[in-house]
Amino acid sequence: MELVLKIWRQKSGQTKGKIQNYPIKNIDPDMSFLEMLDVLNQQLINDGEEPVAFDHDCREGICGACSLVINGAPHGPDRGTTTCQLHMRKFQSGDTIYIEPFRSNSFPVIKDLVVDRGAFDRIQQAGGYVSVNTSGNTVDANATPIPKPNADEAFNAAACIGCGACVAACKNSSAMLFVGAKVSQYAHLPQGQVESKERAINMVSQMDKEGFGNCTNTGACEAHCPKEISLDNIMKLNREYLKSKIT
Ligand code: FES
Repeated sequence: MELVLKIWRQKSGQTKGKIQNYPIKNIDPDMSFLEMLDVLNQQLINDGEEPVAFDHDCREGICGACSLVINGAPHGPDRGTTTCQLHMRKFQSGDTIYIEPFRSNSFPVIKDLVVDRGAFDRIQQAGGYVSVNTSGNTVDANATPIPKPNADEAFNAAACIGCGACVAACKNSSAMLFVGAKVSQYAHLPQGQVESKERAINMVSQMDKEGFGNCTNTGACEAHCPKEISLDNIMKLNREYLKSKIT
């Protein structure tokens, strides 16, 4: 395949960025999108140019490190797929592909396509945990009975990999789908009840401090989420928040 890549280049958060053109040849359709960028970077290094900085880690769709807005869509054109699991066979030879970072004031650009998603870590630290008594014997996991529907709901919410595509997809840069997933994961489990009174309030308060926008129910977050996290989690978050406020 032959492609023209139009990639956002930005030396640092303090400098202005711009789109630059990179024609590329000999791309195998079975390469992943990130492998295609590896090929480009090897060419740039061979030519004595600065390689394109982009985030990645597991390359198996589980860690949430990869990002990229591809042709205007966070994680690209495939539904329920992370950038690292996207393959070049989804494109045609001769295509022009725009590659940009996740855009949000709360995710400042560090370099090129890498953004700082530390805001999500701070939201997690504000309430995305459970208290466990670690003294004495370890309690067998099966000793706490959990109804199957609750376990399923908790598991579906826990599938969130915290990549931030929901924020990048939202016209308001809202982080409600992420926070909703993290709150409902625990709200459905008995282990999550210890902090249930303050969890939603603390996480929403940190989300607001980080500057994320409000949810206006457009559903772009769910449509672009690589793990297809449901909007139901936002409803659960709203219920948990209200419950905390009135009890
Ligand atoms: S690199 Fe881990 S999810 Fe893509």
